[in-house]
This record gives sequence, C-alpha cells and structure tokens, in this order.
Amino acid sequence: MNVVLIGSGGREHALAFKITESFKLEKLYCLPGNPGTSNLGENIDISGNENILEFCIANNIDLVVIGPEQPLVEGLADILRENKISVFGPSKLAAQIEGDKSFSKSLMKKYNIPTAAFEVFDKSDYNNALTYLKRHNYPVVIKAFGLAAGKGVLICENYDDAVSGLNDCFKNNTFGDAGEKVIIEEFMVGQEASIFAVTDGNDYLILPAAQDHKRIYDGDKGKNTGGMGAYAPAPLVTDKLLKEITGKIISPTLSAMKSEKMIYNGCLYAGIMITEEGPKVVEFNCRFGDPETQAVLPLLEGDFLELLYSAANGKIDKSSVKYNGGSSVCVVAVSGGYPDKYEKGFEITGLNISDNEIMIFHAGTKEVKGSILTNGGRVLGITSMIKENDLKLAKQKAYEGISKINFNKMFYRKDISDKAKLR
Ligand code: AMP
Ligand code: GLY
Repeated sequence: MNVVLIGSGGREHALAFKITESFKLEKLYCLPGNPGTSNLGENIDISGNENILEFCIANNIDLVVIGPEQPLVEGLADILRENKISVFGPSKLAAQIEGDKSFSKSLMKKYNIPTAAFEVFDKSDYNNALTYLKRHNYPVVIKAFGLAAGKGVLICENYDDAVSGLNDCFKNNTFGDAGEKVIIEEFMVGQEASIFAVTDGNDYLILPAAQDHKRIYDGDKGKNTGGMGAYAPAPLVTDKLLKEITGKIISPTLSAMKSEKMIYNGCLYAGIMITEEGPKVVEFNCRFGDPETQAVLPLLEGDFLELLYSAANGKIDKSSVKYNGGSSVCVVAVSGGYPDKYEKGFEITGLNISDNEIMIFHAGTKEVKGSILTNGGRVLGITSMIKENDLKLAKQKAYEGISKINFNKMFYRKDISDKAKLR
C-alpha cells in the first residue's frame, strides 16, 4: 500500500511509527512531516488541497490518513474521496463535530447525549448573553464556537470575569471568526479522560483510554497548553465505565451522525468528564489527540494500517489490532516561555537513545545541516512503552529518557501520570 500521512506534529510521528510496522506498507509519504517522520517515510513539503490531490494521483496512493483538524474542517477528505482515493478522516460536514461547537452541542441536546447544560449566543445576542450570565451559577465556562487551537475555552470564576470573557469574543475579536458565536455552559467537576473510537461510520473500535495534562505546570496549574503529556491506559476508565461511555456517548453519537446524513469515518475523539452524575462530553474532536496518540498507539499490537484502511473503506476490521497489556507515558518537552512567547533554533542533544522501551516523538523540530533544532512550542514527546501494565515503571522510564535530552530553555512537567493515583 502507498500511504500519505498529512501533518507534522508529535501525533503524526506516532501515526507514522505505527503505520510503518505493517507488512502491507509499500511506501509512506509524510506531507509535510517532521525530522522524526523522515526516518520512517519520505517527507514531502507540499500543502493545499489541490496540490495534495495532485500528489496522490501521481503517486498511486491507496490511503490518505489526515492527522490534524484544520484540513478536515476545510474539506480535504471530501476532495480526495470525490477522486476515488480512500481517506481515513471525516468529511467537512462531519468534522463540524469539532469545527463548530454550536453544532456538536445541539447534536448532543437533540439526541440526549450527556454533556454540560448550555446556551448558544451570537454577537447580536450580546445583551441576552449578559442577562444569562447574571443568572448563572459560577464558575461558568465560555467557549468560542470555532477552532481556536485549544485556546478558546474560558473558565470564569465570577460575573466580572465572564463579562470580560464575553467581551474578548464579541468586542475585542480575540478569537477572530471562531469567537463570532459563544457557548456558555455549566462548569463540570471531575477527572477527564480521552476516548478514541476508530470507526467506519457504523461499527467502531475503542483504543486504550488515555489522560491528557493540559496545564503548563505540575498539579494542573497555570495556563492551558496543547498538552504537556499523557499516559495510557487510564485506570480511571474501568470496564464498567467504558461500557457506560460507549452506550451513552459513542454509539448514540455515531447513530446521530448517521441520522443527520453525515456518516462519520475516522477517529472520533471524545473528551469525557467523569462527573458524579456519570460521564459527560466536554468536547468532541474529529481526529486523534495530541499527545495522547503518542501514549496510546505503542500499546497496540497487530496491523494498525489495516485498521485504518479497513475503516476508511467502510468495513472496519476490529481484529486487526488489540491492546498489548503494557503501559506508556509521554512527557512533552517544550520551549521555555510556551504557551506564550518562546525562542526557537536551539540545538537538541541526546536524541540517540538506544532503548527499545523509549521512543522520542518529534513535534516542533527542524533539521539544519545534520543538527536537530527546536522549531516550536511543543518540541518532543519522550515516551516510554513497557510490556507491563505498570504506570509507575512507565513513568520512571519516560523520565529516565527525558533526563538524557537537552536544549536551551527546555521545560517539562514532572508529574505526568500521577493523576492515575488520585482515583
Ligand atoms: P476543550 O477545548 O473544550 O477541551 O476545553 C479545554 C479544557 O477546558 C478541557 O479539557 C477542560 O479541562 C476544560 N473545560 C471545558 N469545558 C468545561 C466544562 N464545561 N466544565 C469544566 N471544565 C471544562
Ligand atoms: N490533547 C488534546 C487535543 O488533542 O485536542
């Protein structure tokens, strides 16, 4: 099989790592990829829907795997499918489940899928939104409806905070078009889990549950980031809870999408809050999570490419992969200053770790004359993958790995996976 993988982050390095394990793979092209994927396939620096389509036709591509949300929301999957190319990833309409939070919240309301109580307001409803905020309990959550690179969620402790959040969206244009509409919703209390359902639109396979660490500092303090680390499997998600999540959330959501004539094909990522009233949806994403993918995929044995290919072709082969019984912890090394301003271009040393229980996934890196330099906020995901289901050992191994890596102003959290003990 000739495969194209779209994207350039840590998630895509992990996808490439797993895809290249398949005997069915002939050639992997990463568009554009990163220095990590260049060791697994050929990086090709092209972008734009038309250029990607042209490349796929010229290179007899059998499957395109789309990593990030942006090209999905922009309809890359549709253009490829119209040209008879198999794609793992939802259509533009189905990707609204992430791209338009007012769509996903209304879908959940219509089909009784548990989520935080909410109202949607657009710019012209400013005064109504203020009245609603006056009557609401606190904290309250204000969300920009569109894609905002993980920054469009404001948790407001009191009315004044909420008004200033609303003004950010409607008056100061902080989130651009993504803030034209807002969702004001109930604040939920509980632990969060990331659930990935790989689906052909009808049937699905749930991968081991993971937990992300979104805040910059230990103990979940400080600003929200793209994700500072993840681990899997998350013991918080017991078999019983997973049954509840699939029965009340995943199955009804896929059926709802079918009823709305938007068959969902790809990875449905459900961000779940485990509340006292049971699991509720925090958000849906239309793709695999980053950095959760880096911790989840190493726990799969079998043919991951076959899983994606069979799902893309409407007949998911759920026996193609299974959980290997192990555990994994991914610690993200970021550039000092992230998620605010940071510098780039520092040389990274210590990347040649030869330990088959440690994998270094590249994200914000670039290669210049044989050296690997920092080139983004989230730079690397140092990931342990051990045979035992022992998170303590997996954590130890991941931090052993990161202790060998160095670059100027490197920063990372020291408590990735400790939440597993809080249950
Ligand atoms: P999202 O981008 O929707 O995943 O939101 C980012 C983070 O904000 C989530 O991972 C939660 O930690 C938090 N969050 C979002 N919505 C809520 C909510 N309704 N209640 C409590 N926390 C929330
Ligand atoms: N880990 C959060 C995300 O991928 O959106």
